[in-house]
Amino acid sequence: MEWNGQKAREAIESFAFGPEELVAAVEVFRSEMEKGLQGSADSTLKPLPSYLGLPTGDEQGEFITLDFGGTNVRAEHVRLFGGGQYELAARVAKPLIVPGRYNHAGHGSSAEGLFNFLAEIIDAVLGGNHQTSYRLGHTFSFPSTQDSPRDAKLISWTKELAVPDVEGRWVNERLNDALLRRGLSNVRPTAILNDTVAVLLAAAYQWDGVAIGSIYATGFNACYLENFGGKKTPMIMNLEAGNFGWLDQNKYDMALDATSEKEGAQTLEKMVSGRYLGALFSQAFGDILGETFPAVTGEDLCRIIQGDGATFLRRMAGNSLTDKQIEESAALAEAIVRRSARIAAAVYVGMLRHILGEGIIGVQNIAVEGSFFTHMAIARVALRDALREILKDEGENVQLLHVTGGASLGAAIAAAMIGD
Ligand code: BGC
Repeated sequence: MEWNGQKAREAIESFAFGPEELVAAVEVFRSEMEKGLQGSADSTLKPLPSYLGLPTGDEQGEFITLDFGGTNVRAEHVRLFGGGQYELAARVAKPLIVPGRYNHAGHGSSAEGLFNFLAEIIDAVLGGNHQTSYRLGHTFSFPSTQDSPRDAKLISWTKELAVPDVEGRWVNERLNDALLRRGLSNVRPTAILNDTVAVLLAAAYQWDGVAIGSIYATGFNACYLENFGGKKTPMIMNLEAGNFGWLDQNKYDMALDATSEKEGAQTLEKMVSGRYLGALFSQAFGDILGETFPAVTGEDLCRIIQGDGATFLRRMAGNSLTDKQIEESAALAEAIVRRSARIAAAVYVGMLRHILGEGIIGVQNIAVEGSFFTHMAIARVALRDALREILKDEGENVQLLHVTGGASLGAAIAAAMIGD
């Protein structure tokens, strides 16, 4: 294995997302979003109605929530007190995959096995209580069509999930069947919502003036309150921003896409979200060394950027890497993360431009939740800088609110908003 310095420089350069690209992405994102809202079939953004508006903050009650959408599934018992107050009474979380033991995400899994697994986690959070009646709010973080907030039909798996026989099916109906199989007739799934919608609800329950909800984690996406020019009741729309298809892919993006579950789909997500950035790094690192490597994890990427990755990289590539090559590897990882954050900024500003038009951007709160965003300091700084770069002084008005636990809180709020 030999380090090719020329290739290293080219790889770093290929992840640049310069000022012109940044500004152009804002405009194209906005116009693609508006085309999608008008129902144009050829837009890569097709805003999905949630059938939910914003909460008042006074929603109350006791709910069970299920958060299914990333690597872990969580069930929680949430109490809403109104006045933006809430309490988390219990929580159970389990990974979808435990290598060597079970896998509820891949081709070899089954829909029944998956829904039984979800019911088992709900049973665990109830501590086996099959008597007390609860309504359940379900955060289901995949593109889905709805005709009410009570159930959702999965359009297509994302984030590399591949469970057969769920695409095209009503999800809460199947969850309900699994709950009944387990003897949990006391738990009724009454609400289903995307995780971005849950984050927006959770933030709006507690604070005023939240414009956008976003997830920046294993997946990437955003939603906002659409007011339909005053002609219809405002509704939160899930943009499925990860499917935006007008960004220039470099050769590593293309190689990653070609080996992904859904080739040609989720182009933006594959350049932005935590699920894919480690794989992009490995593609480029392998190209520089003329080898193939498995995807590094988000944590490894963090370590490499922070300059703590020398041991890890030398273990990966043999001990021959010099300090300069370790530094170049860090620059490569940083370029990948920086591009991700700059694209996220373009999405947020494109959305703000749609919401606010060309006028001055006053104080706007964007609620963001996600491990990637929380742990990757460099992504947060790059995102802030990009907002300033696009919006100049008005960039200061855009506040990024860090939300935690939004998926569960939002699901409980949705269940409370819908009622029986
Ligand atoms: C899904 C979205 C979800 C996002 C964040 C994407 O892969 O398509 O529905 O909001 O991940 O979890």
